[in-house]
Amino acid sequence: MKRVLTYGTYDLLHFGHINLLKRAKDLGDYLIVGISTDGFNDLKGKKSYFSYDKREYMLTSVKYVDEIIPEHNWEQKIDDIKKYNIDIFVMGDDWEGKFDYLKEYCEVIYLSRTEGISTTEIKENLRCV
Ligand code: CTP
Repeated sequence: MKRVLTYGTYDLLHFGHINLLKRAKDLGDYLIVGISTDGFNDLKGKKSYFSYDKREYMLTSVKYVDEIIPEHNWEQKIDDIKKYNIDIFVMGDDWEGKFDYLKEYCEVIYLSRTEGISTTEIKENLRCV
């Protein structure tokens, strides 16, 4: 039983997110997604359109996602890996190299991002309509 962990904001859920989640799940048997809380987004200077509860609600409907946990800060990853017995940590390759320090605790894999889509782009495009 391989347990996989990934993190993200997952605002305005889109097919780039689904591609990432599908491939993350394919790496193992059980996928846990850490979603940035609204407080953590504030800390990062990021404002999501949907609140944490709505983003969590959307992700619970995705068949690749087995469990959702809140991401409150940058520092919790090592504790989460230990607490949830994680074998593989996965992020999109926009984060390439940033989480290599976790290799001490589990396998770390960066997956290629889906081209041409992001929450930021959706927000910008919708402003033009
Ligand atoms: N992701 C991806 N392909 C995309 C967009 C996102 O693989 N086209 C991945 C990211 O690399 C990350 C996860 O999806 O592992 C969640 O990313 P998130 O930052 O929530 O989504 P973005 O669309 O990148 O949002 P933003 O534009 O606000 O950065």
